[in-house]
Amino acid sequence: MASRCDCVPGADDPRIAVIGSNMVDLISYIRRMPHEGETLEAPDFAMGCGGKGANQAVAASRLGSKVLMVTRVGNDIFAENTIANFRRNGIDTTYVLPTDATSGVAPIFVDEESHNSILIIKGANALLSPADLAAAEADVARCRLIVLQLEIPLETVYAAIDMGHRLGIPVLLNPAPAQPDLLLERVRGCDFLVPNESELSLLTGMPVDTEQDVRRAASVLHRAGVRHVVVTLGSRGVLWLSDEGEELLPATSAHALDTTGAGDAFIGCFSHVLVETGDIREAIVQANVYAGDSVTKRGTQTSYATAEEFARVRAELER
Ligand code: RIB
Repeated sequence: MASRCDCVPGADDPRIAVIGSNMVDLISYIRRMPHEGETLEAPDFAMGCGGKGANQAVAASRLGSKVLMVTRVGNDIFAENTIANFRRNGIDTTYVLPTDATSGVAPIFVDEESHNSILIIKGANALLSPADLAAAEADVARCRLIVLQLEIPLETVYAAIDMGHRLGIPVLLNPAPAQPDLLLERVRGCDFLVPNESELSLLTGMPVDTEQDVRRAASVLHRAGVRHVVVTLGSRGVLWLSDEGEELLPATSAHALDTTGAGDAFIGCFSHVLVETGDIREAIVQANVYAGDSVTKRGTQTSYATAEEFARVRAELER
């Protein structure tokens, strides 16, 4: 399948604008979920920087992309740490905006079989407005790709898609977490839509029980106007649909210790390779490997490889 993205011309100074969330991940490692009224002891706990937008920004930046983050942090003890984390990871924090609210927080439970459950309390993320985005327009205009998820208000997501179109910048939407109110009509102009199976099902109202179901639902998005539909199928790989046809690209097999944030690792790496090379197929192939590596380590951002570490992972696979 032809795999160039003519909308990403490749540049000396590629920049990715991530317009999205940040959270503080409070991760409890548990044996099993407690029943109602039951108190259980969890063997382990970790606190880390998370949030889908921040995770994707950190992954892309660790791989070498210049990333501009547009987000809101709270007025509590978490905000300073979140900003310091962005800076440590080389992310432009000009539009990391202080807010009179709590920071976003995500209690996460990971069981012994590496299944996870996540609660999100959006806090300041719920106040990221179209006006905040408008204030960042001059800097967003210098970017080669806009990356979006759904932990901020939908109006802001729609405004970012409109801004991308106005500025001629390709837009990637990761419709996560699944949002029943998301209007296909408002997102069908995205260049890249990257759902997992349940997000695909919610967005199309179609079943995704079989591979055939997934293909049918993905093609509905493509026919609606999405240029590239990239469905992440976990250990079964990634289905990519575009004008050129469809292709199932396999995942790398890895023993999963903690899959939390693997989807964000995929998006961060995909965005980085896409902006650097314009090669969509290569972006999917590398993102599969990057996400596969992340599940072998605990935590969200703590499991994301740097460019050097990722080069070693790829070299190991090629041996
Ligand atoms: O995708 C994983 C992320 O979802 C976590 O970091 C958590 O913060 C939630 O946003």
